[in-house]
Amino acid sequence: MMATARDERTKPLAAALAVALLLGLCRGDVVQFIFGDSLSDVGNNQYLTKSLARAATPWYGIDFGTGMPNGRFCNGRTVADIVGDKMGLPRPPAFLDPSLDADTIFRSGVNYASGGGGILNETSSLFIQRFSLYKQIELFQGTQAFMRQKLGKAAADKFFGHAYYVVAMGANDFINNYLLPVYSDSWTYNGDTFVRHMVSTLESQLRLLHALGARRLTFFGLGPMGCIPLQRYLTSSGGCQESTNKLARSFNDQAGALVARLSSALPNATFRFGEAYDYFQDIIDRPYMYGFNNSRAPCCTLGRIRPTLTCTPLSTLCKDRSKYVFWDEYHPTDKANELIALETLRKLNITVTGVSNGPTAPPPS
Ligand SMILES: *[C@@H]1O[C@H](CO)[C@@H](O)[C@H](O)[C@H]1NC(C)=O
Ligand SMILES: *[C@@H]1O[C@H](CO)[C@@H](O)[C@H](O)[C@H]1NC(C)=O
Ligand SMILES: *[C@@H]1O[C@H](CO)[C@@H](O)[C@H](O)[C@H]1NC(C)=O
Ligand SMILES: *[C@@H]1O[C@H](CO)[C@@H](O)[C@H](O)[C@H]1NC(C)=O
Repeated sequence: MMATARDERTKPLAAALAVALLLGLCRGDVVQFIFGDSLSDVGNNQYLTKSLARAATPWYGIDFGTGMPNGRFCNGRTVADIVGDKMGLPRPPAFLDPSLDADTIFRSGVNYASGGGGILNETSSLFIQRFSLYKQIELFQGTQAFMRQKLGKAAADKFFGHAYYVVAMGANDFINNYLLPVYSDSWTYNGDTFVRHMVSTLESQLRLLHALGARRLTFFGLGPMGCIPLQRYLTSSGGCQESTNKLARSFNDQAGALVARLSSALPNATFRFGEAYDYFQDIIDRPYMYGFNNSRAPCCTLGRIRPTLTCTPLSTLCKDRSKYVFWDEYHPTDKANELIALETLRKLNITVTGVSNGPTAPPPS
């Protein structure tokens, strides 16, 4: 009885959505499905209450909306927020957002990104709770089943076939796995074999997404992760960890080649590789050229207790957040994310309108 009542209530929505799809009324309403880690998380880990990676307290979110924590590991917007905004796409809500329903998914897509998430299942196991990429794809399959039930199979398949897919992963597989001797991967592999293990796992994951209907997909490569404040702290000179940066470049080279290969091999696939590694490195090396004043220390920090604890309610904030490249020990500021997003779009040959905040100096050629 209850099931019947529920079916009756959902029918008008399904009918309206199906009609809209048939008439092509929603052609402009292309949505995104986002898979990633803390660089793209918009709130999933807030609901994973046992996770040790959560942006649930001040001063996270201080430059976003009301200034209260919203689950982003940043003072403001993520790179994926800004890339989507510039392309005119709605911002997808977090998968675990309790208000997520069929109508919201239809209009805005879903973001499965989770702080600590990695390409490999075993990455960040010390964080207790996080969605690895395989887990995120599993959740996406649940979303697909749900939408097929609401829209019917044909309309749902069309909806998922037209969407944009973003996958932005890999940093945790190094920072919270391979580079930490408590993880068995750190003694099972060397740098080369570990990167190959990651890229072959990524290949299965991207093929799986294609098999599930993803056609337009962008994979975001890694930045110079040896220069995050946490990594600098571990060097005696306070400089970047060059060995870590080398791993990031090696991963980017192989992941970029993989994405290009899949894009030509898989039917109807437009898979692209987006990155801004060299540009980000230049921001770090010459912050003044881009309007920054500090590319070494986090803006939000507990001072002498760093780097054990990152941004907390007891931390002090830098005077001008737009002058810092890094927000906490791991994550760039809103301002740095904006420059990285614009460069990523430029390298993808995606022209955007309304761009106002370019670097004060032209990027290196
Ligand atoms: C990774 O985890 C998924 C579940 O999220 C599971 O289906 C898969 O078999 C695991 N893969 C490996 C290699 O452990
Ligand atoms: C590729 O696109 C064509 C034309 O839209 C379609 O007929 C075909 O079924 C698609 N193939 C796959 C595997 O998606
Ligand atoms: C830049 O930072 C230094 C300290 O690192 C400070 O003395 C100086 O006033 C800052 N300049 C601006 C423009 O914020
Ligand atoms: C962007 O355009 C340039 C020049 O036309 C080309 O060399 C490059 O491969 C393009 N990049 C992408 C990601 O399509």
